[in-house]
This record gives sequence, C-alpha cells and structure tokens, in this order.
Amino acid sequence: MVRNQENVLWSLLDDFRNYLWSENGTNKKGEFDYIPSFNRESMNQIGLVIDDLPTQQRNDLRNLKFLDAGCGKGLIVAMARAFGFDSFGLEIRVKYIKEALKVLYGGNAFIQVGWQSFPEIRKQNILKYESYGRYDVIFYYSPFDNNNKEEEFEERIEEQMKVGAYLIANRKQSGKIYKDSRFIKVMPGHPIFKKVKK
Ligand SMILES: C[S@@+](CC[C@H](N)C(=O)[O-])C[C@H]1O[C@@H](n2cnc3c(N)ncnc32)[C@H](O)[C@@H]1O
Repeated sequence: MVRNQENVLWSLLDDFRNYLWSENGTNKKGEFDYIPSFNRESMNQIGLVIDDLPTQQRNDLRNLKFLDAGCGKGLIVAMARAFGFDSFGLEIRVKYIKEALKVLYGGNAFIQVGWQSFPEIRKQNILKYESYGRYDVIFYYSPFDNNNKEEEFEERIEEQMKVGAYLIANRKQSGKIYKDSRFIKVMPGHPIFKKVKK
C-alpha cells in the first residue's frame, strides 16, 4: 500500500480508536461491549450507499435518516452526521450514551456543520425495538456475542425495514437475506443490502 498522507492518517485514527475507545468483553446477556468498527471501512461502506442512492436523495442527505443500532460511544453516528445524514443511535448502556453525547455535542462539530440536524441518541434495547421502518440507512457492527440473539436482531431489522432502505450489516450471522427476494446486494464483497420490495 502506498504510504501517502491519507493512509497515514487512517492508520493513526485506527490506532487511537483502539486506545481511546475500545472496551473489552461481553456480558451475561450475550451483548458485546463497545468495540468500534474500523473508521475507514465504515466510511467506505457509507460512501457506497450514497453512490447507490437515487440522484434526488443523494443531493440532500438531510432528508434521509441514518441509524446505528448499538451505537456505543457514537463514532458512526458522528460519521453519518459529517456525511450530512439526519443521524440517530440506539444504545443500551447508559455509560456509552453519555460518552456519545460528549462526542456529538461536546466539541465544535455543530459549528462546523451548523446546518445539520442534531443527532438523537436513545437508550433502547435493539432486540425489542419496533421502529426500524423509520430509517433510510441502518448500520450495525456485531452487537451480540450470542449467535441466536444476533440472528433474531438481524431478522427483526430485515422484517421491519421499509422498501428503498439500505442495510450495512457488519459481521452478519443470519444468512436468510441472501435467499430473500425482497433484498438485493448492493455491491459484491460488501455486506450492504437494499430492500426492493415488501
Ligand atoms: C461491537 S459494538 C459496535 C459499536 C458501533 N456500532 C460501531 O460500529 O462503532 C456493539 C455495541 O452494541 C451495544 N449493544 C449490545 N447489545 C445491545 C442491545 N441489546 N441494545 C442496544 N445496544 C446494544 C453495545 O453496548 C455496544 O456499544
């Protein structure tokens, strides 16, 4: 890989991401702690979704709702906001929600992107959530260590998603979506899907 400045910056960000952000382990309920997804890969995935959007939607992302289900300390929510989406996060652990609110409102991000909406971070068990149909883009990165719970969570989202919505499904466990004619895979080699019919 060419060691240009961009690559060096990404490498640094990932080093700091591990040091500053990661928590290790799971709990007895089979829920992972906060282990942030890789910045560069996530950014690439969100970029691929934007490239696939119909032109009218692509030109004004403020009208599109982006959700990170199990958002931890909010890095992906911050990233989606920086792209210009109307951004949301759901998280079960209050200690992470507090950190996410510091990330999203503690710095000067609002001044930099002052025309954007305020992201909303809500305490919510994503296994019980009933409003996945609100969102245009749903992102997750392995919230459950327990495979049964992970599959239940994934299939819940796939049922509720609206037609036209995108799913970025990192470390997906359930394979049902690959045989489900309601979904197409947006890009070979990436876990990105679009719901195309009811
Ligand atoms: C592996 S981390 C991923 C964090 C973030 N999505 C990212 O990509 O950077 C999984 C997150 O899911 C959260 N989580 C696990 N079980 C959950 C549940 N039942 N409801 C809501 N959040 C949950 C964890 O607390 C943790 O913050």
